[in-house]
Amino acid sequence: RRTRSCRFGRIFHATAASCAAAVASRDRRPRRGLDAARIQRNPGPSNRNTNVNAAPTPAVMQQLLDAARRARAQAYAPYSKFSVGAALLDEHGRVHAGCNIENAAYPQGLCAEASALAHLVLAGGKRVLAAVTVGQAAQPVTPCGGCRQKLREFAADDAPVWSADLHMITARHTLGALLPASFGPQHLAAGIP
Ligand code: THU
Repeated sequence: RRTRSCRFGRIFHATAASCAAAVASRDRRPRRGLDAARIQRNPGPSNRNTNVNAAPTPAVMQQLLDAARRARAQAYAPYSKFSVGAALLDEHGRVHAGCNIENAAYPQGLCAEASALAHLVLAGGKRVLAAVTVGQAAQPVTPCGGCRQKLREFAADDAPVWSADLHMITARHTLGALLPASFGPQHLAAGIP
């Protein structure tokens, strides 16, 4: 029997092919440390809503509500004292949250929806299938005009855009209802010079 060197160290493998197979099977095993953390943070497809044509399920909308409420708790709103959280569902069934981030130079403040959108795009999301905005007010807190347009870039007219406070859902709109006859990427694609 001949002992040869392979990536396992000096272990006998009858042929180069069986050595390669052993290495491949080892590489498929999750490794400790970073790999294990990645696997835990990204649960498999089983609990994801990956059907982009299906309306988001009540369970998924509940995930959005929870995420938006948690995000609202992180809001940086020392000037208005009006904390807002938002959560967006992407085409992979992932939830991306954001909060408002105000600034001493007031116009530089960022809305919760814009901050959630930044997270979605950074994570590789291409579409917004549903949105939830959470704030405490006498009226439902809907996305501001600018954020409706920002969402419109990635969402269809029938995408649900819900409002909620810490206790209940306060409004259920679609993006098309909030921003009718909107301008979007298609206008540029079909642009006549
Ligand atoms: N705000 C949001 O973050 N989202 C909305 O949909 C409405 C308004 C923020 C902006 C500002 O920080 C504060 O709420 C008061 O306008």
